[in-house]
Amino acid sequence: MNEEQRLETNQIKNDPQANLDRLKKMDADELIGKYFQATYQPPNLKKAKKRLKKDVDIHYDYAIPEDMKGIGQGKKFLIRTYGCQMNEHDSEVMAGLLTDLGYQPTEETTEADVILLNTCAIRENAENRVFGEIGHLKPIKMENPDLIIGVCGCMSQEESVVNRILQKHPFVDMIFGTHNIHRLPQLLKEAMFSKEMVVEVWSKEGDIIENLPKVRKGNIKAWVNIMYGCDKFCTYCIVPYTRGKERSRLPEDIIEEVRHLAAQGYQEVTLLGQNVNAYGKDFEFEYGLGDLLDELRKIDIPRIRFTTSHPRDFDDRLIEVLAKGGNLLDHIHLPVQSGSSEVLRVMARRYTREDYLELVRKIRAAMPNATLTTDIIVGFPNETDEQFEETMTLMKEVGFEAAYTFIYSPREGTPAARWEDNIPMEVKKERLQRLNALVNEQSKASMKAYEGQIVDVLVEGESKKDPDVLSGYTERNKLVNFKAPKSVIGKIVPVKITKAKTWSLDGEFVENTVEV
Ligand code: 5AD
Ligand code: SF4
Repeated sequence: MNEEQRLETNQIKNDPQANLDRLKKMDADELIGKYFQATYQPPNLKKAKKRLKKDVDIHYDYAIPEDMKGIGQGKKFLIRTYGCQMNEHDSEVMAGLLTDLGYQPTEETTEADVILLNTCAIRENAENRVFGEIGHLKPIKMENPDLIIGVCGCMSQEESVVNRILQKHPFVDMIFGTHNIHRLPQLLKEAMFSKEMVVEVWSKEGDIIENLPKVRKGNIKAWVNIMYGCDKFCTYCIVPYTRGKERSRLPEDIIEEVRHLAAQGYQEVTLLGQNVNAYGKDFEFEYGLGDLLDELRKIDIPRIRFTTSHPRDFDDRLIEVLAKGGNLLDHIHLPVQSGSSEVLRVMARRYTREDYLELVRKIRAAMPNATLTTDIIVGFPNETDEQFEETMTLMKEVGFEAAYTFIYSPREGTPAARWEDNIPMEVKKERLQRLNALVNEQSKASMKAYEGQIVDVLVEGESKKDPDVLSGYTERNKLVNFKAPKSVIGKIVPVKITKAKTWSLDGEFVENTVEV
């Protein structure tokens, strides 16, 4: 940027309305060329698809830059998180970085000095919610020009999103992606002092940074990342482009993190990855998720879960280890996406209906009581009525106890988004309704079976609806509401189930069995 542009930018920044008026008249190229050249590198989905041969470097030496220490003293931050558990966990890392800079958390937008929107790109409606929220922040920014607004997460990895923010929401101060979260302190500094929109999005995945600070939400359950990225490239999915190639953390780093959590008193860990079953495939030595779980199960932590599984990589070694039980819970979330082999083929899922059923059979043989849940997409381009019926029959045949169901949403840059689609939206909505009715029916039936039984519940806190009621989850991930002294929060306690609802269970605390 030359001196003239710098003066102009500063002048514009001192008058936010003039800034907005001016920027609104420019198209994205002008904006990028004129004001954002210094920092703007557009994300590129094609580049994001290229997979590097080079090994990923692992760093253990992260430190807050000297000149940034204390810059958050007396200031507050707010992070809004959209989407999956991976994003939830990334937000914990960002909260850790901001806390290390001296910032305090707040829930009030009007109190915040930094607001970050950690976004999700998986479906269009997720993106629309974020754009709605960006719109709501505009008057707050006008009131408080020193507020720093940042957009990060998966949407930032999309070129079209970055351009739209540049064009329509120029009051946003910074955009950064999923691969450079550790650069938050530097980006924040640039946004504070240069007073121009800072855009730093890397199309290529970065290295693994091991020792980033984290402020976890709560001290009962914890997320533990075991790998990053996805190499599956299902034809509908944006994740491999926004999250980069598969990169596994070393077993010893994961084991140490879980040990540390156990020592701190955490009761449950959930191992995270976009496709956890591909864990270790990028190592030069033979080691997979089964091997990792076999080591983790020896750690003194009551519950270990993992998500999300891909049926293709769910191998016999993993089943053999899961069958050992103990703290490895027998709830398996195994997204099937469709019950039709032909639809699965065009989705590039790399398994058939029969392969999936065979896998379920093996899992059930090893773990007779396993609870299976799934994800399903309806209305994939050109899905016929017959193919949809196959999804309905598979739902029954497997006996899924819960399912997240979605109408297919075209994602720019993915192969399926380029295909003709002859299925009207009305038909897709009807299919979703029919499927959801079946999901509810099956969930209710599975809940009913618990009436009269005593289950172990990890108590998480007061129920959202009634502070006199406590709530928590069973090993098989059923939500239970019951009355008990608050001192049981954070403990695993027996609860007798008195009433089954569609999505939760009501129960009575079984007293005198635990110290309260
Ligand atoms: N449209 C609808 N649903 C999708 N999912 C992923 N991509 C799309 C899309 N383009 C669903 C899949 C996945 C879950 C996390 O989101 O079911 O398992
Ligand atoms: Fe997306 Fe999951 Fe397929 Fe990866 S495995 S491309 S994250 S649906």
